[in-house]
This record gives sequence, C-alpha cells and structure tokens, in this order.
Amino acid sequence: MATVTLHNLVKAYGKAEVLHGINLEVADGEFVVFVGPSGCGKSTTLRIIAGLEDVTSGEVQIGGRTVNHLEPKDRDIAMVFQNYAIYPHMSVRKNIGFGLRTSSLSKPEREQRIEEVAAILSMTEYLDRKPAQLSGGQRQRVAIGRAMVRDPAVFLFDEPLSNLDAQLRSQMRLEIKKLHQRVGTTIIFVTHDQVEAMTMADRIVIMKDGHIQQIGTPAEVFHQPANIFVAQFIGAPSMNLMPGRAVAGGLEVGGTMIARETGRTGAMTVGIRPDDLCVTQDKGCFSGRITLLEPLGSETLVYVDIDGQEVVAHADGRNPPALGAVVQLTVDPANLHLFGADGEAIT
Ligand SMILES: Nc1ncnc2c1ncn2[C@@H]1O[C@H](COP(=O)(O)OP(=O)(O)OP(=O)(O)O)[C@@H](O)[C@H]1O
Ligand SMILES: [Mg+2]
Repeated sequence: MATVTLHNLVKAYGKAEVLHGINLEVADGEFVVFVGPSGCGKSTTLRIIAGLEDVTSGEVQIGGRTVNHLEPKDRDIAMVFQNYAIYPHMSVRKNIGFGLRTSSLSKPEREQRIEEVAAILSMTEYLDRKPAQLSGGQRQRVAIGRAMVRDPAVFLFDEPLSNLDAQLRSQMRLEIKKLHQRVGTTIIFVTHDQVEAMTMADRIVIMKDGHIQQIGTPAEVFHQPANIFVAQFIGAPSMNLMPGRAVAGGLEVGGTMIARETGRTGAMTVGIRPDDLCVTQDKGCFSGRITLLEPLGSETLVYVDIDGQEVVAHADGRNPPALGAVVQLTVDPANLHLFGADGEAIT
C-alpha cells in the first residue's frame, strides 16, 4: 500500500501543453477517481504516474519516494486498461500468472498466489479455460487478476469498464468496489462516466482542459460544486441554470422573488438540481407549461418551459402531471446554487 503525490505536474507534447500543473495527494488505501470530458488529460496523468509517459516538469511520488526516473516495473504499480489485452492462447491460470513473469517467487509459490487471486475474483473454476470461453466480465476479471497477482502498492485503472454492456458495467463497478474493500490497495481509477465516479470513489478529481476543477468526496462535489462546470458535469440530468439577480434580502429568478439572502447584489447564475425542483399542487415558486415527460419508474422527469426557459423538474412516478399542463414548481431556497459571473460558486 502507498500514498501517491503529484506535485505541479506539467505535460507538453511539442508546443501543446496538455497538463497545466496538477497537484494531488492520494492517501494510502484511498480510492480516487479522475473524471472529466474526453481530452481533459485523465489518461495522460495516469500514464505519468505509471511511468509510461515522461513529465515535462513536476514530481510524482509513490509511497513517499520520488519515482520520476524509475521505470514502470520499478514503481510497484499495476495498470489495467480499457483494452485489457489478455492472451487468447493462454489459459486463465497462465494469463494471471503472466503478471508474475519477472517475480522471484518459486513455482509452487506462484501457483499458490494465482489460486489466491482467482479465489478473490471468484474465478477458481475458470482457471483452466481460455479467454474465448469466458464472458466479457470474466475476461475483465482476468485482466484485473493479472494486475493483482503481484500485490502492487497502487492500482491504476484506465476506463476498464467502457467496453462492457450497461448491466455488466454496474456489476463490475460493484466488484471493483468490493475488491478494494477487501484488499485495501490504493486505487486511481479513470473514467468519463460521472455515475462510475460517484458510486466508487472515496474522492473524485474533476478535470477539464488539463486543469483540476475540484477535488472532493462524491457528496461534496454534488452538494457543493466549486463552479458551473462541476455543477453541470456531476449529476444526471444536469443541474438547471437560470439567470438571476440578487437584491437586498432576496433573489429574483424566473420572474419570481425568492427569499434567499446572498450577501451581495447584482447578476448571478442560479443552479437548481432537477431533484430539488418539484411539481406541486400548492402555490410554487415558478409556474410553466410541460413540454416533455420522461417516466423513469419511481419518478418522472418533467421538462417545463418557464417564460421561454426550459428546466427539468421531477414528479412522483405514480401520479405524473399531463403533457401540456401548466404546473407549479417549488424549490427550497436553501438548495439553490449560486455562481458569480466568473462561474465560481458563491458561498
Ligand atoms: N502522444 C500524444 N501526442 C500529442 N498529444 C497527445 C498525446 N497523447 C495525448 N495527447 C493530447 O493530450 C490531451 C489529453 O489526452 P488524454 O488522453 O490524457 O485525455 P483523456 O482525458 O484521457 O481523454 P479520453 O476520455 O478521451 O480518454 C488531448 O488533447 C490529447 O489529444
Ligand atoms: Mg483517456
């Protein structure tokens, strides 16, 4: 087990700088997820930690030791990629054992280690099969097994679930989480799927254009997003954003005055999560016409046009309103998210 520290990492390809000073401290045994849109620098950061890419400047420490000049094999890490290259001609046993090819263990010790890892991954009965005789999820477990067998200090995962279908993805998500609870190894996991990030991470690192936007627990980044980008990236459907104006004692938004003291005056952006905006029978804050209904079972997403602005609210799935109806929407003023002209949260 080990801590991972990134100190002011900068990476340029030729003249193009793609990481602009990444700082992060991952605690021993922590499960950290990097999330962000395509091209934001997640894989590059992971590959730098793994030693597969050089840094332009900055420092990488693993277990308190600077590893910038160490080869990947000397960093005590194991990496699992999206295209989990397992060898089709080798049995599961050989594929997992491949992770031990450079180890100094004796043959019986290796066999024992492979059996242990297979047991943790519930793959014991498949040890003598070839990959072609396995499901996608089982193949992914073989790839994870090969990474685990060396008992590395840090696991690095780069979108390992993105080739799996939706059901298998959520199953593997749970399995990786359970695996982490059992073995306790430090994990850095890259994904562009915010649901994966929210469900698995101890802490989430949200990146955009080579910059970290926010680091926090899933609850922190959801309830206290640092800026508009994070607010819209985390949570599905995305947070509603409405232009607002703060006055003494209140906030004017969507044609209504809401009793929320902001401590300042002037224009700001008001964010409301669809979960916090409810269709109500009583007098609400806003009123508008329903343009679309999206039934999800327990709840129904309700798209409402408030004075030319479309927002997403929710209603009870058992008793949804009708398309085209004019409805009242209510929100607890305490649940409004406020952002300044620079996009940063006003707290
Ligand atoms: N070998 C390379 N040469 C030049 N530019 C590169 C190279 N590898 C990556 N980049 C650029 O660096 C930026 C970050 O790429 P990176 O692969 O880290 O993104 P990512 O966040 O992993 O995206 P994705 O979600 O699509 O995998 C991108 O703009 C990419 O085009
Ligand atoms: Mg990537």
